[in-house]
Amino acid sequence: MKNIFILTGAGISAESGLKTFRDSDGLWENYRVEDVASIEGFEKNPKLVHEFYNMLRPMLEKAEPNAAHFAISDFERHRPDLNVFLVTQNVDLLHEKAGSKNVWHMHGRIDECVCLKCSHIFKTLGDVDFQMPCPKCGAKNLKPNIIFFGEMPMFMEKINQQLAGCDVFVAVGTSGVVYPAAGFVQVAKYYGAKTYLFNLESARNNFYFDHQITGKASETLPDFLKNLS
Ligand code: OAD
Ligand code: ZN
Repeated sequence: MKNIFILTGAGISAESGLKTFRDSDGLWENYRVEDVASIEGFEKNPKLVHEFYNMLRPMLEKAEPNAAHFAISDFERHRPDLNVFLVTQNVDLLHEKAGSKNVWHMHGRIDECVCLKCSHIFKTLGDVDFQMPCPKCGAKNLKPNIIFFGEMPMFMEKINQQLAGCDVFVAVGTSGVVYPAAGFVQVAKYYGAKTYLFNLESARNNFYFDHQITGKASETLPDFLKNLS
């Protein structure tokens, strides 16, 4: 059975109205990355960090998936002859909303918090206050369950295993700037996978892709997945 590895980034959700990180008018336009997306920033000012994600959460939760998210979930459903491994760098839940059942959120999820004392991960309902107690141990040290700069992404062991065994590697809507995700293509290619990039513009790690399909993912990805043999 063929193994298909799909990596998605902020660009796949752009057509659902969510801002990407690095395009002009991106998410970080009004914030300093160091303040809201780093461990140091969180230690210095957890209140600001929670405010930022409290602002972001309803925006992400309201968004609806687009044709590219649906193309992936249809592909998973209609191709039982393939093993599809879906990894996203996105903290939104649009793959799930489109019907994908097994999504590996390597950078975490907007609807979860983690207790920094006991590591308990739990779903959040609405806003999170940095003084809220952990439902398991009671400590008041909650962090959004989102990977910040300076932290190791989640599920790396599983991801590396899948990269080594994949036949086709597909990246969608990601600028190829942030590691380790930006290096996945190299690993997949090293192990013999065919590599494809679906992006609006060229990515920093262009060089490693066998095929680059430039355009909006909602327009380019559905046909490709329908015809993948
Ligand atoms: P970026 O914002 O860096 O890149 C988004 C890419 O999507 C750009 O290269 C755009 O050209 C492309 N794009 C925009 N609209 C598109 C469309 N309609 N169809 C196809 N491509 C489109 O986002 P990421 O690469 O996902 O980490 O960023 C990686 C990580 O940087 C994020 O996960 C985030 C940040 O640090 C964390 O939050 C931990
Ligand atoms: Zn706890």
